Amino acid sequence: MGMPYEVQGVIARGKGEAVSLETVLVPDPGPGEAVVNVQACGVCHTDLHYREGGISDDYPFLLGHEAAGVVEAVGPGVTSVSPGDYVILNWRAVCGDCRACKRGRPWYCFNTHNAAQKMTLSDGTPLSPALGIGAFAEKTLVAAGQCTKVDPAASPAAAGLLGCGIMAGIGAAINTGGVTRGDSVAVIGCGGVGSAAVLGSALAGASKIIAVDIDDRKLAWAREFGATHTVNSAAVDPVEAIRELTDGNGADVVVEAVGRPETYKQAFYARDLAGTVVLVGVPTPEMTLDLPLLDVFGRGGALKSSWYGDCLPSRDFPMLIDLYMQGRLNLDGFVTETIGLSQVEEAFAKMHRGEVLRSVVVL
Ligand code: APR
Ligand code: ZN
Ligand code: ZN
Repeated sequence: MGMPYEVQGVIARGKGEAVSLETVLVPDPGPGEAVVNVQACGVCHTDLHYREGGISDDYPFLLGHEAAGVVEAVGPGVTSVSPGDYVILNWRAVCGDCRACKRGRPWYCFNTHNAAQKMTLSDGTPLSPALGIGAFAEKTLVAAGQCTKVDPAASPAAAGLLGCGIMAGIGAAINTGGVTRGDSVAVIGCGGVGSAAVLGSALAGASKIIAVDIDDRKLAWAREFGATHTVNSAAVDPVEAIRELTDGNGADVVVEAVGRPETYKQAFYARDLAGTVVLVGVPTPEMTLDLPLLDVFGRGGALKSSWYGDCLPSRDFPMLIDLYMQGRLNLDGFVTETIGLSQVEEAFAKMHRGEVLRSVVVL
């Protein structure tokens, strides 16, 4: 296979090393694959986790995975997309045939067909694309099943965000939590993912949306996405505050979007006895949760984790983009800044300092 495309891409070469902008060779698409001209790609925590070795040791990585762009070329047998199509990329090209797929839970597909490791550095070193995407690059090679066509009028910076964190948050509320009209919802941790859960809850008609964070900047943003109440949990006990705001009952749905034991616990106790806890914050391997069994037994409802917002890209991306185009879904509010490929390292630092919901690379 030739390497017809020579592009610039953001590479993580080793554990904790600052990323660098390097030449990436992208092959022609093989069977079932597509090459996409990336137009925008958000900076997500997972990219930083790759750089830090938290996900795999398979360096070098081509980072970036929250992206939208235009299909440049497709390989043999691809019928779902064509050159010129405007697409959002997803990190789960589902097989449609495994037990999870057949039982209607494709987000747990055991047999994903993401892009293989075919892109290389200019010296031929194979690159591992982050989450099978690698979209901090002018072009990237993906499986055709990772491309979902959406309305081409949608701004790439906003559309790309549905490819990961913002979909995870909206889906945690709507798909996993089943938030519906009149529900009370509490969201613990209002970064990009939690704020998206606030937005999803507002979209679903929740009557009370309580945003909880330790950072007042995040709480101000959460209000813009539809929070009706805010609680700074550095100042007050969030479980008591949520109970007070829900007539002593606790919330119908509590979304945890931090990924720490203390906030998992708060989510557990802040829900109504028959309420649902949705865990979307990702813990680290050494974290454990210590709960009295009698409390687990004594509460009905449900304790659920949300995987990629339990989304079905072909169902959810076009629907959410239509709502965005109608002015009913504020995706632009997540784009704190747009940057170039050379500024990803700076964006990691801003993310670390909590200054942004999302920095988005625009090409
Ligand atoms: N209580 C409440 N909020 C907290 C706490 C705490 N103890 N600790 C941190 N936070 C807040 C931060 O202030 C921040 O606003 O949680 C938020 C986390 O947001 P981000 O760091 O922006 O992360 P985000 O991209 O939203 O992802 C959140 O979801 O999908 C997962 O891997 C992702 O675990 C991560 C989580
Ligand atoms: Zn499957
Ligand atoms: Zn992500």
